Amino acid sequence: MCGIMGYVGSEPAVDIVLAGLKRLEYRGYDSAGLGIVDDGRLAICKTPGRVKALADDVAKCWAPELRQRALAGIGHTRWATHGAPTRENAHPHLDAKGRLCLVHNGIIENFQALRARLEQEGHSFLSQTDTEVLAHLIGEFYEGDLLRAVCAALKHVEGAFGIAVLAAGKPDEIVVARRGSPIVLGLCETGALVASDAAAIMSLTRNLVYLEDHDVAVVHPGGIDVRSVDNVPVSRPVTVADWDTTAAEKGGYAHFMLKEIFEQPEALTNTLRGRLDPREGTAVLGGLDMTPREINEISRLVLLACGTSLHACQVAAYAFEELADLPVCVEQAAEFRYRNPIVRSTDLVVAVSQSGETADTLAAVREAQRKGARVASICNVVGSSIARESGRGVYLHAGPEIGVASTKAFTCQVLALSMMALKFGRCRRLTREQGLACCQAYEALPGVVRQVLEQHEAVRAIAGEIARANHVFYIGRGTLHPAAMEGALKLKEISYIHAEGYQAAELKHGPIALLQPDVPVVALANDPRSLDKTLGNMQECRARQAPVYAVVAAGETAANAVATRVLEVPRQPPLLASIPAAIVVQLLAYYAALARGCEIDQPRNLAKSVTVE
Ligand code: M6R
Repeated sequence: MCGIMGYVGSEPAVDIVLAGLKRLEYRGYDSAGLGIVDDGRLAICKTPGRVKALADDVAKCWAPELRQRALAGIGHTRWATHGAPTRENAHPHLDAKGRLCLVHNGIIENFQALRARLEQEGHSFLSQTDTEVLAHLIGEFYEGDLLRAVCAALKHVEGAFGIAVLAAGKPDEIVVARRGSPIVLGLCETGALVASDAAAIMSLTRNLVYLEDHDVAVVHPGGIDVRSVDNVPVSRPVTVADWDTTAAEKGGYAHFMLKEIFEQPEALTNTLRGRLDPREGTAVLGGLDMTPREINEISRLVLLACGTSLHACQVAAYAFEELADLPVCVEQAAEFRYRNPIVRSTDLVVAVSQSGETADTLAAVREAQRKGARVASICNVVGSSIARESGRGVYLHAGPEIGVASTKAFTCQVLALSMMALKFGRCRRLTREQGLACCQAYEALPGVVRQVLEQHEAVRAIAGEIARANHVFYIGRGTLHPAAMEGALKLKEISYIHAEGYQAAELKHGPIALLQPDVPVVALANDPRSLDKTLGNMQECRARQAPVYAVVAAGETAANAVATRVLEVPRQPPLLASIPAAIVVQLLAYYAALARGCEIDQPRNLAKSVTVE
């Protein structure tokens, strides 16, 4: 969460930094700020609100000559952790003497102790942030060598950070450091770039250098000098980014979320590409780097994730049990680290994360590794921390997901995990014929999703009714239970309607008390195996006068007599029924949020990538 952007070179820095911040806004957007070096002095502009408001303030406060002159700048778009989203709390923050300024992603965990100590020594602070404390701390060590001061200060800091620091009198360097929060560097034709996310700088360079934890670096117009926090030179490889920057633009859609919902057929095709072996009826997942014997020796699978990725894992658990005969434990990543989990050397731990930067999932990966488990990952963002630290895994290749509400990542995660289940199944107990049937079902998914998308107007009509509710229930059985939880999550986060996802039978163990005519129920019932039972649950809801919107497999007519409205989706094998259901609940949430006039791509209080625990 939060975005960092910096530039030092021969072009005016202000416009380059503002453009980069705009691309990062999806990571945090409650306040923004910019710091530049001009004529040996620092100038800072900060504002509550979006990057657009910052750009307006910059145009008002800084003369055109100043904006043209400054050749080094750092900027930040914030998602508040310490202190409200005010001008005072926005970054950059200055040190006590105003000689350096700092932007920061992450959390300094011991900031209160540091702040108390500095206050005793006479420092006073203008904000409630942990970041300002770090700026003051670096200032304490600063005697003209910025790199040295940063290294010295970081030795006193606990927590996670990605930082960029600019000093007055140093118009040709930015010092950056990383521990737990990503920093990527790049050289372009006119200078050097700093960002927390490659998306910010990819229009200017494709050659990226990712910092590792405990790295610091001095970034000059002509080069990048990476060191350890002990100031020893280290070498980091140049990664050539291979995705197209237009993929990170809206392409004619009103919102990124809508674009990402509609590009799922293509995203699923990319996740599938080259990964099915139609002769052997298995999946080819080279990045897993495991022999059939090693796969056979796995005694338990532990799936770690948060949010939407957690729901994808809960769906996939059924596939691993059914296809691969593997006991599966799906863990909320934030809990895993703190409850001393039992991990055996024969366990395979798979971390699932769209961004690959989710702090809770990353911490859980490290805990699993500490306990000696074999760890793999399923990530979308290539080169992300979880992908790199797990060392083996599968990339989704779904393209950049910008909308805060995760959509295409979910369906691609379910597919990638299903392919893993198929591969494991073929190494354990599945026949070639059973494997071939799975391959055919996976290959058909892009077409299935296309058919559901064609029904978007019908979903929109239901969304119009849901948009009037204050509370909504989603129910489902089997793989449609996590799909129901995903539906509730989507609706909550972008339309601000309170929603709950329940196992359909569980409703009568308490929550049914809340049902009444203005509390709609969305029943995901497109798994014919459990349709009869879910129909019974729908009856129970109707008996309490709750409107019921049912999603059923094509040709199933029994729901017509029970539900308020019925939507038919293509019939799928039960293990894949969550895919068409997911498209419906994504569209429902989108259109409900649209009807309520909500900020769809940047919902309140949220950020795309949650890099704090
Ligand atoms: O990047 P990750 O998949 O690790 O993110 C996990 C969650 O933060 C994320 O899925 C979140 O729940 C989404 N905003 C849901 O739409």
